[in-house]
Amino acid sequence: MKKIALVFGTRPEAIKMAPVYLALNGSPLQPVVIATAQHREMLDQVLELFGITPDYDLNIMKERQSLSDLTSRLTKALEDIYKNEKFAATLVQGDTTTTFVGALVSFYHKVPVGHVEAGLRTNDIYNPFPEEVNRRLVSVIATYHYPPTEQARKNLLAAGISEKNMLVTGNTVIDALLWTTKNKSLEARRIRESLGLEDESYILMTMHRRENWGEPMREVMKAIKKILSEKKDLKLVFPVHLNPVVREVVYEELGEYPRVLLTEPLDYLPFVSLMEKAKLILTDSGGIQEEAPALGKPTLVLRSETERPEALEAGTAKLVGTSAEKIVEETLKLLNSTEEYEKMAKSVNPFGDGKASERIVTHLIEAFGA
Ligand code: UD1
Ligand code: UDP
Repeated sequence: MKKIALVFGTRPEAIKMAPVYLALNGSPLQPVVIATAQHREMLDQVLELFGITPDYDLNIMKERQSLSDLTSRLTKALEDIYKNEKFAATLVQGDTTTTFVGALVSFYHKVPVGHVEAGLRTNDIYNPFPEEVNRRLVSVIATYHYPPTEQARKNLLAAGISEKNMLVTGNTVIDALLWTTKNKSLEARRIRESLGLEDESYILMTMHRRENWGEPMREVMKAIKKILSEKKDLKLVFPVHLNPVVREVVYEELGEYPRVLLTEPLDYLPFVSLMEKAKLILTDSGGIQEEAPALGKPTLVLRSETERPEALEAGTAKLVGTSAEKIVEETLKLLNSTEEYEKMAKSVNPFGDGKASERIVTHLIEAFGA
């Protein structure tokens, strides 16, 4: 059986690669999971939910790891695997350091790379940092390109990538989301009840991007306090990313604030169950911008740019940046006007139909046979 290496290591990559793994598992190709564990706890919960046991676990995470340190240790650890294994291809997903280094080491061993979620661009190399550059580098290295949308395909063509091995698939995050809501809906309600949120009105928030560290993040916290002081029956639920740089600011600003529920990062199922019942979502996450439209949740994006313009065009998301004034204004507009709210909540999900993984695996089988 030909082996396909799946290299991933952070939470969002695991969520978006899990359905590809499941589809490969029932195919004539053999998935070999190389978990870099760039994230540890946040990765493990996804592996458990989807029943994935890595063939290799590089356990690479260190407290406050720098980009250069992570990149060099990861290169060496992957090299040790690739020099002893024979893969027909490598799949990487998205734009993290794991994605880039996974593609690079595979290239050094002349193993062709398939890029899942190819072609996202903001055209600003510092925004998001370092992800915009990671995704561009992987496009140069990859042989197979799986853009999630037509827009992403156009971005690749504009970057001079050949359309020979390019296939628009939809985003595999929708596959993961549908799998989760279908297989686990009863548990989801129980989780909301256990957090005392089943009958509450709440905003769900996440924030972790490097370009938002420090002052921009403090500005956003200021906005949260203002919104909650205006809306006395509203709560804010904020699962805080495990990055210590993020945690320091969030706990300092919101740790004791009334009607703010700060939690550890939630496992994927509880998080989806909270998205399902949230009034609206405030986030700088990439993946959440894709999931929220599928759940009909208005999303205010805490960034100045997005590589997911499809969500803006569909009307389901708005860029609000990190200015406190703008965030308060846009949030209150949604909370105070049913018309504004419905306009966003009723827009159509532009990110796929839940069959992206199936398309990717069919394409790989055509490329490699059994
Ligand atoms: C990484 C990705 C980013 C992605 C994000 C998803 C890079 C450069 N960044 O950012 O693109 O959007 O993941 O969440 O690839 N930590 C833990 N336990 C965990 C996870 C993280 O303790 O399970 C802490 C560690 O101290 C670690 C730090 O968080 O050093 C930062 O992790 P890192 O992967 O470098 O960056 P993220 O900000 O998580
Ligand atoms: N997510 C989760 N628990 C949380 C916050 C997010 O399971 O507490 C999920 C979310 O549903 C999405 C993914 O993690 O699928 C997004 O990850 P993150 O925001 O860390 O990374 P990004 O998508 O910005 O790269």
